[in-house]
Amino acid sequence: MIDIHSHILPGLDDGAGNLSDALEMAQLAASSGIKGIIATPHCNIPGGFHNYWSLSLEDDLRNLQNEINDRNIPLTLYPGQEVFLAPGFMDMLHQGKLITLCNSRYMLVEFDMYESATVAYRKLQQILAEGLVPIVAHPERYRFVHEQKEAIYRMKDLGALLQINRGSLKGAFGIRTKSIANEIISSYQADFIASDAHSQYRRTPYLADVHEVICERISADYGDVLVKINPKKIITDERIYSF
Ligand SMILES: [Fe+2]
Repeated sequence: MIDIHSHILPGLDDGAGNLSDALEMAQLAASSGIKGIIATPHCNIPGGFHNYWSLSLEDDLRNLQNEINDRNIPLTLYPGQEVFLAPGFMDMLHQGKLITLCNSRYMLVEFDMYESATVAYRKLQQILAEGLVPIVAHPERYRFVHEQKEAIYRMKDLGALLQINRGSLKGAFGIRTKSIANEIISSYQADFIASDAHSQYRRTPYLADVHEVICERISADYGDVLVKINPKKIITDERIYSF
């Protein structure tokens, strides 16, 4: 399995606080069958975490990989960001401050929780017009999706992809979010499930349980597509598989 959304890089955002936390997260991920993690620190949050792409971020990734290797943890890290689509994000993109996942065509994006549907669609279209493919992080958590479930189909029709959080399926963000996450999965509109891990204790880097449930309740093919096949296609920058 490959986890495409994880706050494992230490000291950059509200994820791993230090190296020891990050290594515990890496160990937990590897022991649960995760072979690769795309490290996606929060980026471009106004008044919050900036984490624009820089040589220093590249060093952070390399340093953590070296520490992981030193401990013989079988896990490969890949570069990425969780890009907050604040006003002005296109300028940041043109300035090279935003990166895609593994330098592919795919960019992991998040909205303000209270973003309007119209503005969200416009922002996705702006990214698509650049020849990039936005992956919407945890669509099941946004208010505009709660208010109008058709938003799921609208985003897919535009060409965006959808990444469900494991925690949403486990009920960590409330019953409504859990129900929408399940609906997106059961209607085959989901493209990925990721951990959105923030620590080794809460919102953990673990995917084995949700993979097993989807394989049992829906189909093994779909379970594999969501946590194995499509994540791998990001790393190789290939077209993802859609049901
Ligand atoms: Fe996240």
